Amino acid sequence: MMVKIADDLAAYGWAKCEDFLSNDEWRALVADIQRLKDANLMRPAGVGRATDFQLNASVRSDLIYWLDEHETSSAQKVALARLDELRTTLNRELYLGLRELEAHLTHYGPSGHYAKHVDNFQGQSSRILSCIVYLNESWQPSDGGKLLIYAPNDPERLLGEVEPRAGTLACFLSRDIPHEVATTTRDRLSLTGWFR
Ligand code: OGA
Ligand code: MN
Repeated sequence: MMVKIADDLAAYGWAKCEDFLSNDEWRALVADIQRLKDANLMRPAGVGRATDFQLNASVRSDLIYWLDEHETSSAQKVALARLDELRTTLNRELYLGLRELEAHLTHYGPSGHYAKHVDNFQGQSSRILSCIVYLNESWQPSDGGKLLIYAPNDPERLLGEVEPRAGTLACFLSRDIPHEVATTTRDRLSLTGWFR
């Protein structure tokens, strides 16, 4: 599974894996998000971080919770361990030199979206690989909310689409791949992370 992801990343700049987390594993993360929502800890995401942070709901409309390495739940530990397995495989196979992960739990409500963007625009951040693990049971095509992936040097050309089905991982090179979250018609949950 991990080596297939490495091969696809090398060939295409992006990859997907439909059984990255088991049912029990993603269900435990959904329960985490529910607890965080109940505790009012899921907050509107900004565009940019730290000094250039701004809220702009016309660009992205999700609620997020940044994982805190001192307070990871058992569900988060399992998912982070799986992502770390991916990290070591990619370093071995592709020499990506991935070191650390920053990650948040993510909730787009109905009519949520994220306009086309790159996660590391012209090398302005140290993000190398973007990873999203989806947590949505019985997703239907009519629910929208696809991840749309565009060509590195031609952001008008669609390379691929990923439905945000529970257990699926999508990953891509943060500097190269323009992408967008199409408008979702139902709640859309994920764990989103970037390796630096
Ligand atoms: C992001 C992003 C894609 C997705 O958070 O930067 O592009 O499918 N997410 O949620
Ligand atoms: Mn992105």
